[in-house]
Amino acid sequence: MKALIDKIKTAGIAVDEHVLKVDSFINHQVDPKLMGEIGEEFARYFKDKKITKVFTVETSGIAPAVFTALVMNLDLVVLKKNTSKILSGEVYQTSIYSFTKGVNYELTLSKKFIDKDDNILIIDDFLANGQAALGAVNLVEMAGAKVGGIGILIEKTFQDGRKLLDDRGYETYSLARIKSLKEGMIEFED
Ligand code: G4P
Repeated sequence: MKALIDKIKTAGIAVDEHVLKVDSFINHQVDPKLMGEIGEEFARYFKDKKITKVFTVETSGIAPAVFTALVMNLDLVVLKKNTSKILSGEVYQTSIYSFTKGVNYELTLSKKFIDKDDNILIIDDFLANGQAALGAVNLVEMAGAKVGGIGILIEKTFQDGRKLLDDRGYETYSLARIKSLKEGMIEFED
C-alpha cells in the first residue's frame, strides 16, 4: 500500500537489523488519516470473505483495527495481554512469548465476545515472529470459530511469522513488506 510505504520511508527509523521504529505514526503518536486509509484497504481486500468480527491485539493494533471495523460495519474485539492465568472459565487464554520484547503473557479473550459461527478478521501492526497472530488464531480456534483472514500493516519477511501462518492455512495480507533492515536503511520487497 503506497501511502503506508511512503510513510515508512519518510518517518520510519531502522534501529538495527531487527527493529523498525514507527513510533511517530503507529506505536506512540498515531496518524489517523493513514489509519483511515488502512481501514479502507483492509475492508476492500477482505470484503468477500463474509467476516463477522474484527479482532486485534492490544495496543498498537487497535487504531488500524478500529478503522477497519468501522468501514466494514462490524464490532471490534481487543485481545488482552494478561500477566497471569485467569481460572474462572469465562475466558479463552493462550501463552505467548514475544521474541522482540523478551516477555511472556497470556493472550485473553472473553467467551462472551465470540461465537462458533463467527468468521474473524485479525488485524495487527507488525508480523515478526508471528506469535501474536498465532495466539489470536489459537483463541479463535478454541472457540470453534473460523479465521477469515489476517491483515498486517508491516511484515518483516526476514522473520518466520509468515511461514507459520501459511503452514496453518490462513491467508495473510500485509500492506508493507520489509526485506531487510540495517541502521538507517530499509529495503522493501518488490
Ligand atoms: P510476533 O508477534 O510477530 O511474534 O512479534 P514479536 O513477538 O517478535 O513482537 C512482539 C512485539 O514487538 C509486538 O508489539 C510487535 O508489534 C513488536 N514488534 C515486532 N517487530 C517490531 C519492529 O520491527 N518494530 C516495532 N516498533 N515493533 C515491533 P507488542 O508487544 O504487541 O506491542 P504493542 O502492540 O503493545 O505496542
